[in-house]
Amino acid sequence: MDRNDVPPDTEQPLPGGLQLTAMDPTFRDCPHLPLDRLRTAAPVHADIALGRWFLTRFDDIKAVVSDRTLSVDPRKAPPGSYSRRLLIGDAPVEEVALSMLHLDDPDHKRIRGLVTQAFNQRAVDAAEPRMHAIAERLLDAIGEREAFEVIADYAAPLPIMVIAEMLGVEHADLALFKRWSDAQAQIFNPARTPEQTAALTEAHQGLEDCITRMIALRRRQPGRDIVSGLVAAQAEGDRLTDREIVITCNLLLVAGNLTTTDLIGNAMLALLRHPAAMSKLRAQPALIAGQAIEEALRYDPPVAQSTRIATSPLSIGGVAITPGQAITVSLLAASHDPAVHNDPHCFDISRQDTTHLAFGGGVHYCLGAQLARAEARVAITHLLGRFATVRLDPAHEVRRKRVAVFNGVEALWVRTD
Ligand code: HEM
Repeated sequence: MDRNDVPPDTEQPLPGGLQLTAMDPTFRDCPHLPLDRLRTAAPVHADIALGRWFLTRFDDIKAVVSDRTLSVDPRKAPPGSYSRRLLIGDAPVEEVALSMLHLDDPDHKRIRGLVTQAFNQRAVDAAEPRMHAIAERLLDAIGEREAFEVIADYAAPLPIMVIAEMLGVEHADLALFKRWSDAQAQIFNPARTPEQTAALTEAHQGLEDCITRMIALRRRQPGRDIVSGLVAAQAEGDRLTDREIVITCNLLLVAGNLTTTDLIGNAMLALLRHPAAMSKLRAQPALIAGQAIEEALRYDPPVAQSTRIATSPLSIGGVAITPGQAITVSLLAASHDPAVHNDPHCFDISRQDTTHLAFGGGVHYCLGAQLARAEARVAITHLLGRFATVRLDPAHEVRRKRVAVFNGVEALWVRTD
């Protein structure tokens, strides 16, 4: 998209130069001011700087993520466009290995169908006792310290350790696996240093080798883990190839770890800033499972946005969109829409209207939603259970992450005295 695509009477309601991603410090620290303004003045906004339409209304966003005529495949975006650069960089199209997240039907339907034979509610239920044990072990390591950093000490290692066990990573490989998974956090940091890029390349290779070894092992000797399930999955004689299993395991790590870390971090931050809500959860821990986690997902969703490519002419809110154009939906704006949520910027664990699109919608609805909810419930329940007092540490500022797609905090220091 360029300037010529902007309808002549479209108001440009944003201050000049503001970029609608967390790479821009003004947007990162205070996203709802511009998002609210856009929702009112230009709900289908021509984001010229990043070459995309940018949507802020709940109903439009729900319709877009559910629309099967729109594509998630970045190869269908015009060369040089923002979404293509972000997702496939300069790689030649034939070399791009895409996961189900970026494949359209029929490829998406085939892979998702096979993967759900192994990665499903049963697998989450089976992992739950280990989630409790891992949370307790991490809290034991924090011990009696009067101050600790929630993300590095707790929210980041927990989902990595859970998924490693679910996949069936050997005990001896766990430390390396954790290091490689940590390095993946740099994927969405376009400002990474050469050292971070080198660590990312090493992590990709390391994970690929590790999973390839596991596949070969499980073919000979199947276990009860996800990799064994992926190896065994079949439908009408069709199976996943080794390459597809590697790409899928990588997706489970990238899509699952950073996001769940951010959910635990964002939920804890909201509770720390709303002590009455925290007290209520301490008195009624059962509320953590439903209301509190759903309100945290609505209030501060870990995935800020998602993008689709138009494959045929369409109209959204009276704006004409042409094939090849990118449509980015702000999941952050969707869950703060006053047309759907009363007093949307208020964190309220007793609200009834927690409807959100934090896990997307339609055929690409998050495959790990139930795992993420379970991990967040377990993490918060154990943290509040372990410490009678937890409060923000005034010696440290809360800084938000500088990333293109995710929405979370870099570090969250708390005091327990
Ligand atoms: C709070 C944590 C999480 C959030 C907010 C989240 C969010 C999302 C969103 C918004 C999408 C859809 C993207 C789109 O339509 O463009 C998605 C897809 C996906 N998520 Fe999650 N996710 C979370 C945790 C997880 C976990 C724990 C896993 C697995 C370990 C996971 C695996 C996936 C997969 C495989 C897809 C692709 C589904 C498909 O394309 O059919 N996610 N997630």
